[in-house]
Amino acid sequence: MRVAIIGGTGSFGRALAERIAALGEDVVIGSRDASRAEEIAAVLGVDGATNEQAVEGADLVILAVRSNAALDTARELASAIGSKPLLSVASSLEFSDKGVLPGQHGHSLAEHIAEIVEAPVAAGLQTLAAVQLTGTDLPDEDVLVCGDDPAAKEPSLELAGRLVAGRAIDAGPLENARALEGMTAVILNVNRRYKIYAGIRLTGFP
Ligand SMILES: NC(=O)c1ccc[n+]([C@@H]2O[C@H](COP(=O)([O-])OP(=O)(O)OC[C@H]3O[C@@H](n4cnc5c(N)ncnc54)[C@H](OP(=O)(O)O)[C@@H]3O)[C@@H](O)[C@H]2O)c1
Repeated sequence: MRVAIIGGTGSFGRALAERIAALGEDVVIGSRDASRAEEIAAVLGVDGATNEQAVEGADLVILAVRSNAALDTARELASAIGSKPLLSVASSLEFSDKGVLPGQHGHSLAEHIAEIVEAPVAAGLQTLAAVQLTGTDLPDEDVLVCGDDPAAKEPSLELAGRLVAGRAIDAGPLENARALEGMTAVILNVNRRYKIYAGIRLTGFP
């Protein structure tokens, strides 16, 4: 599987790229700046290109730009992405004096992205910290993925399940990205309060 990571020069994109490449998959990281992508890609042992070039020939596109750039980037790349399955890892957040809050007043970035692109869209991995992907062991946690279209949800679940020691869990329709993105706010507050990198585990599975 060829996986294109848009914004793959960032902390999450780099961590994902290295881990996915270690699984034996073909990875390309994208950037607004080709030379920046190539430089970082060379260190990670993957391919690097502009975001637009990176999505060419991809079987799965992971949109991993800074969350506040996710919608503009989706608009800019919509025609290059075409109908290639897209996984959004972004979270709509608001940073306040009280702490980190869910943003967008109930709507998720992933749902907006699905309105922008023609491609099938899934959302997931929001609770998986980049730093947890950089250790030698698989992160001891589950990951949640939601989406309406199996064309995006199935490859996302399959890949996500190989990134953690726990399970990749189907969390239902894309509207549930509101909860997954909101969970990032919860996790970030927990991280600040307890000085940890929290992840999640769901119980009740046999
Ligand atoms: N960090 C984590 O632990 C973590 C965990 C789960 C999910 N996520 C999600 O993953 C995404 C990336 O997080 P991150 O921490 O890796 O972010 P980041 O390092 O701040 O940014 C990632 C990349 O976004 C690109 N970018 C920045 N501003 C942009 C703009 N205005 N337009 C287009 N691209 C822009 C940059 O790439 P170029 O400058 O090279 O174009 C940058 O390297 C976010 O949506 C975040 O919520 C992060």
